[in-house]
Amino acid sequence: MDDIHVVVLAAGKGTRMKSETPKVLHRIGGLTLIERVLRTAAGLSPASITLVVGHGADQVRAALGDGIQFVMQEEQLGTGHALLQARPLLEGKSGTLVLLSGDVPLLTAATLRSLVETHNAAAAAATVVTADLPRAFGYGRVVRTNGKIARIVEEKDASPSQRAITEVNSGIYAFDLEPLFAALDTIGTGNKQGEYYLPDLIAIYRKQKRTVATWTVTQAQEIRGINSRTELAEVTAMVRQQKNEELMAAGVTLIDPATTYVDDDVVVGPDTVIHPCVFLEGGTKIGAACEIHSGSRITNATIGDRVTIRNHTIIADSVVMDGARIGPFAHLRPGSELGEDTHVGNFVELKKTTMAKGAKANHLAYLGDAVIGARANVGAGTITCNYDGEQKHQTVIGNDVFVGSNSTLVAPVTLADGSYIAAGSAITMEVPSGALAIGRSRQEIKPGWVAQKKSRVKSEK
Ligand code: UD1
Ligand code: CA
Repeated sequence: MDDIHVVVLAAGKGTRMKSETPKVLHRIGGLTLIERVLRTAAGLSPASITLVVGHGADQVRAALGDGIQFVMQEEQLGTGHALLQARPLLEGKSGTLVLLSGDVPLLTAATLRSLVETHNAAAAAATVVTADLPRAFGYGRVVRTNGKIARIVEEKDASPSQRAITEVNSGIYAFDLEPLFAALDTIGTGNKQGEYYLPDLIAIYRKQKRTVATWTVTQAQEIRGINSRTELAEVTAMVRQQKNEELMAAGVTLIDPATTYVDDDVVVGPDTVIHPCVFLEGGTKIGAACEIHSGSRITNATIGDRVTIRNHTIIADSVVMDGARIGPFAHLRPGSELGEDTHVGNFVELKKTTMAKGAKANHLAYLGDAVIGARANVGAGTITCNYDGEQKHQTVIGNDVFVGSNSTLVAPVTLADGSYIAAGSAITMEVPSGALAIGRSRQEIKPGWVAQKKSRVKSEK
């Protein structure tokens, strides 16, 4: 098979999005539109991928990884003009150019393979992916004569009878590279929008008696373009429903799929139960037989098996091992690691803190830049004072340490294995193993003080 070169058009402003963000960087199911398109393109194992950028080019470049070449379209004069910008990189090469649109995110690799197969079998100069869309408004319409594609007419240029056509241009094509760039040069701007329309190439090729083929997708929704926030929301809902169905097929219980929000790349193990209004985002991985209660948001975290996450827990960029219990109202900030069977309870905030197996912090605590040993118990109201106004410092709490309630641990400080901290202490010095540290003023008792006070008040009246 000849080489395949992919070109993706992503220079347009996306005017109808009314956004400071380039259209192709808007997200569906946690992935930008352009990431989705590029993943699909990778399914063809192409010899090269070229992205035509323009509006917001720096942002688009910065958002994408290596392995892609960029060409700049300084002025967005239309899709035909956009493809011409790839000329310096592709002219003189042979094989097939597959053209994708950065704003058509649901296209599948299977459709692209069918496109290339159809194109090769027909030995076509161009092959167009089309779809039958009852709501064809806004798309270019496929005009056929004697059953063969004759040309594509844009919505704005179409006559009423052409507007009634429901076969639309997806904006996805395969082109034989050999005649392509010379033909692109002949596209004009004689249309309502004064743009160089790439679809005009179809009529040009037909006039040159070249073969133009079509491939019609069976799932028309697949070629839906994103041009407005409404379309973004509609396609997002479709993607989300599909992800939820995949999860359920894999043995995950969703109490209410309508209010379950799981990004595409998230993995969830079987027998995990997800309650309503849960958000699982980014590259999150959840093990088997976990229970995740309402109002929780888990982003880029790895969660083991049999973990219970109670209501309104937020976890980001953290690791949680098997059997841990977290929440309600707990907050694991980036860099936290909870060992097996740890408990983190109500209103406990962790940042860059690790807790070893069986350690507990059940109520009202801030634990930042801390290392907490196995079976240690951190009492209610414990605060690690990790910041001195200039720098962050570490708190080390050993195995089997007991930290009494309302203790203040001024970092850097170490509480060695098996030490005890009296409730209400401010700890500023290392506590040796097995020692008790009391860091508060001693309680005083004044016997009979209340009666004396009352009689003093009476005599003053
Ligand atoms: C285009 C097609 C239409 C098709 C539809 C499918 C044209 C003229 N029309 O219309 O037949 O039904 O897609 O979704 O091609 N772009 C550039 N540079 C430009 C103009 C556009 O890079 O100068 C990029 C856009 O960023 C976008 C893609 O090309 O990713 C399509 O452009 P858009 O303006 O969205 O075209 P449509 O009006 O949707
Ligand atoms: Ca479009």
